[in-house]
Amino acid sequence: MRPLVEHAYKLASGLDPYLDAISTPPSQICQDLIEASLRHPWADEHKQGRTQFLQKRECCAGALEGRFIATLAKLNNAKTVLEVGMFTGTTTLAVAQALPDDGKVVACEIEEFMRDFSQPWFERAGVADKVDVRLGPASETLDTLAAEGKRFDLAFLDADKTGYLSYYKKLMDHNLIVPSGAIIVDNSLMKGRTYYSGGVKDEMADAIRDFNEYVRQDSRVDVLALPFRDGVTIITRRPQSGEQDEVATGAAHNNVLQRMKLNNKVALITGGGQGIGRAFAHALGEAGAAVAVVDINAKTAQATAEELNGKGIRSIAVTADITKAKECQRMVDTVVSELGGLDIAVNNAGINFNNAAEDTPESEWDMTFNLNTKGLFLCCQAEGKHMLQQGYGRIINTASMASLLVPHPQKQIAYNASKAAVVKITETLGAEWADRGLTVNCMSPGIVNTALIQSDALKPLAKEWITQIPMGRLAEVTDLEAAIVFMASDASSFMTGHNLALTGGHTLW
Ligand SMILES: NC(=O)c1ccc[n+]([C@@H]2O[C@H](COP(=O)([O-])OP(=O)(O)OC[C@H]3O[C@@H](n4cnc5c(N)ncnc54)[C@H](O)[C@@H]3O)[C@@H](O)[C@H]2O)c1
Repeated sequence: MRPLVEHAYKLASGLDPYLDAISTPPSQICQDLIEASLRHPWADEHKQGRTQFLQKRECCAGALEGRFIATLAKLNNAKTVLEVGMFTGTTTLAVAQALPDDGKVVACEIEEFMRDFSQPWFERAGVADKVDVRLGPASETLDTLAAEGKRFDLAFLDADKTGYLSYYKKLMDHNLIVPSGAIIVDNSLMKGRTYYSGGVKDEMADAIRDFNEYVRQDSRVDVLALPFRDGVTIITRRPQSGEQDEVATGAAHNNVLQRMKLNNKVALITGGGQGIGRAFAHALGEAGAAVAVVDINAKTAQATAEELNGKGIRSIAVTADITKAKECQRMVDTVVSELGGLDIAVNNAGINFNNAAEDTPESEWDMTFNLNTKGLFLCCQAEGKHMLQQGYGRIINTASMASLLVPHPQKQIAYNASKAAVVKITETLGAEWADRGLTVNCMSPGIVNTALIQSDALKPLAKEWITQIPMGRLAEVTDLEAAIVFMASDASSFMTGHNLALTGGHTLW
């Protein structure tokens, strides 16, 4: 018997260190905080009245817990996370580091000492502005957060076990969690004490058992219990039942964010080597599409494709001069043969020359129209032929605010006319192909901070433009990214022949 017990002991006690060993370690600062938390003389602090409760070394979350919640936050694309029970902030720090720059972790903590202990670590890690520690009983803090209208992508329950049920009810009843969010519950198995009491009275295990049973019976949620550390439960909202209409369930049971996903779609972007096109390539790739980066400049096309591949986006570079019909056809054929299809085409390559109308040379007019207008049409034609055959496609052309007004004080008659023509091409194709599964739209950015506006003629004008723009700034390429994903996705299913202006209000004055 004894060797068997020893064997079982070694198996059980080896699990946690092994999990640590085969998982990516936390950041150095997280590790330092974990060590400082483990080393701290908690008994002395309590004796001297600096903490209300006697904190135990085991309360320190360890590396894995922080990594677990941080990973869930990343999987969920979380921006706001609620932590009920912070202790020394090791999980808080790991999550804050995983959130985007404008993300926020709200941590409920009862001990003032813990806030003061963790704050310098948040500052050292450069995440202090992403962490909001709320002192006081968690139950009251949850009421305050609900009254403030706060909403969270994830909530992590890791406080007093007897409070779990009331915290859970508040999270659900006050809708503190967004519909696609989750509640993660720590200690839901208490190393087996919830399902095997061994005849011993155990207030904490009883509370968790009641909690587990209540949640399991709650028809609003799906529950998944995992034997990870001392038990973790993941609670997610149940999708709406099939009896409801698509408004309630989401079209084809997709929520609105799922409808923006481009998984299994193939996109090409002309002029994708730099500027707006490069941002479009990243945005479409981030949304799930495979991306062909097309440019006359082989080097920049290759560099963008490498950036995309580096972040896990299937991508190729295609060198093509889209002013030539043959090249446009070769571009489509290459994309179809190398990426397996073509669903989304963004015709974005364009140039701009600046000259007064009376001085505009014929060659400038021709170069501008060859690329911005004829080249763009030749692309639409080659792409459209393929898409019409498959009965599905999204074409998005980059026009310009110059299609809506005459930008000033710069003189650019050829550019303005070429972009106005892009709108008419878009409207015509949108109408011609509307009943054959294709949508054709265009985007008209205002003045965007790219190489295109760095010419000697345009660069000095930035100050003046800013006075013309109600938002008081130029567009950055990232300002255009969500719109291209929307226009490329099924979310824009009823939009065609439209010219979407993103101008910071420039067209309003
Ligand atoms: N930057 C702005 O303020 C602004 C505003 C509104 C609209 N736009 C339009 O957005 C589009 C992109 O502009 P940007 O600012 O990113 O310009 P950019 O000059 O930074 O990039 C244009 C890209 O097109 C490529 N290209 C040029 N000729 C080509 C050809 N014949 N074949 C294939 N590729 C070619 C270039 O190599 C370059 O990579 C253009 O159509 C432009 O008119 C720009």
